[in-house]
Amino acid sequence: MARTVITFGTFDILHIGHLRVIDRARALGDRLVVGVSSDELNLSKKGREPVFSQDERLQIIGALRSVDAVFLEESLEAKREYVVTHGAQVLVMGDDWAGHFDELGDVCEVVYLPRTPSISTTAIIEKVAGPTAGT
Ligand code: CTP
Repeated sequence: MARTVITFGTFDILHIGHLRVIDRARALGDRLVVGVSSDELNLSKKGREPVFSQDERLQIIGALRSVDAVFLEESLEAKREYVVTHGAQVLVMGDDWAGHFDELGDVCEVVYLPRTPSISTTAIIEKVAGPTAGT
């Protein structure tokens, strides 16, 4: 039976850290499904609207070679439901979440992958805005 891997994220302003986690997640199975978090979820979670809308982020992530399917993640608390609904055998999260999803071990294997150092969407936004932005 095909082994389905699932992972989640905002994936705003696609960068090499995103690509690397997606490629490594895909390598853990035969099929990768990605939950792209909604604009509303981001506003509540990170306190800002993503630069790219949820529709744009869904299209961008869905166009990647390693990604077989995408869906909109509308609740952070619904991971168990998403894992089951999408028939995933493996849940992949960045190691900034290490330990947080161990309770899902009864429905899937839970893997935390190391983040790529020195890059994030937040850092890109700050770099592009420049030192004088907001003054
Ligand atoms: N990720 C990673 N390495 C990075 C940045 C992100 O492996 N340097 C992974 C995260 O662990 C997560 C996925 O990419 O599994 C999506 O993360 P996301 O929060 O969308 O990206 P960030 O760049 O961390 O965004 P922000 O700065 O807004 O928190």
